[in-house]
Amino acid sequence: MQADSTSGGGLKFSGEKLAVLGCGKIGEAMVRGMLSSGFAQASQIHATTRREPRAQALHRGLGIHASTDNSKAAAAANIIVLALKPNLILPVLEEIAAVLRPPAAPLIVSVAAAVTLAQLEQTAERHAGRGVAVARAMPNTPALIGAGMTALAMGRHASAEQAEQARGMLLSIGRAVIAEERHFDGITGLSASGPAFIYMVIESMAEGGVRIGLPRELALELAAQTVVGAGRMVLETREHPAKLKDAVTTPAGCTVDGLLELEAGGLRVALIKAVGRAARRAGELAGK
Ligand SMILES: NC(=O)c1ccc[n+]([C@@H]2O[C@H](COP(=O)([O-])OP(=O)(O)OC[C@H]3O[C@@H](n4cnc5c(N)ncnc54)[C@H](OP(=O)(O)O)[C@@H]3O)[C@@H](O)[C@H]2O)c1
Repeated sequence: MQADSTSGGGLKFSGEKLAVLGCGKIGEAMVRGMLSSGFAQASQIHATTRREPRAQALHRGLGIHASTDNSKAAAAANIIVLALKPNLILPVLEEIAAVLRPPAAPLIVSVAAAVTLAQLEQTAERHAGRGVAVARAMPNTPALIGAGMTALAMGRHASAEQAEQARGMLLSIGRAVIAEERHFDGITGLSASGPAFIYMVIESMAEGGVRIGLPRELALELAAQTVVGAGRMVLETREHPAKLKDAVTTPAGCTVDGLLELEAGGLRVALIKAVGRAARRAGELAGK
């Protein structure tokens, strides 16, 4: 896997219409990220949900077009993001089949766990009667504030221009890497589920601060910024985390006592297992 780039500042959607079908938690995070980075204008984005009130709330809150009509939202879109639950990806692709037929040539980007490029291609091609450009992306919710981490794998029929379009869209919501599709379950378990693991770390560190008498708000800010800073140190210095850890750990100082507690509490093993369990579950989700 190779790092592509880190920031999407200045990237612009080159098409006219971008559809996000199934605009729930991750769909909305992506849309908000794209809007606040200036990648797309609200008038270019058409989102769908299952429930009408949710569509209305998206329209009111973000100014985008929003409805419960997938075919209408997808019609004449240059990029169609499928942000539905895995079991609905292929049925909704069938539902919008008419908009895939030539001369339309949209790029379909699925962000669902477990649904493969081959499944997307077969379903789309059965209706379009020719190769359809598809891609798989695995984003995470910090996309909402432009701090997402997304992996991207392109299908066989996507053009170089469409790959650039997809990459531009993902860079506008954070970091993006090209990854082999066989790694997607692992990526889902690590960076898509990962924010939840880290929120638990932040919550627990802040609890530790509260336990020794720090005001809760202060403890939370210290914990959260410490995680942000440590993450940026790894990315920006490219040093091994163990080496960075050593730089904090003065001989006979206080940090080493804390590290000992973490080892005794099994933090390492717990996190290694958490990523593994989430990844295995990701592989099981298709059809559920
Ligand atoms: N959440 C994450 O952090 C994350 C990260 C990476 C990838 N993903 C992937 O993203 C996908 C969505 O996850 P999520 O957490 O965002 O789920 P979610 O919040 O439940 O969003 C799913 C959305 O799909 C809508 N929907 C359901 N049936 C529909 C239909 N027939 N037509 C149009 N819209 C329909 C729902 O509408 P209503 O709101 O009206 O019910 C809801 O807004 C999953 O495949 C997951 O693997 C999620």
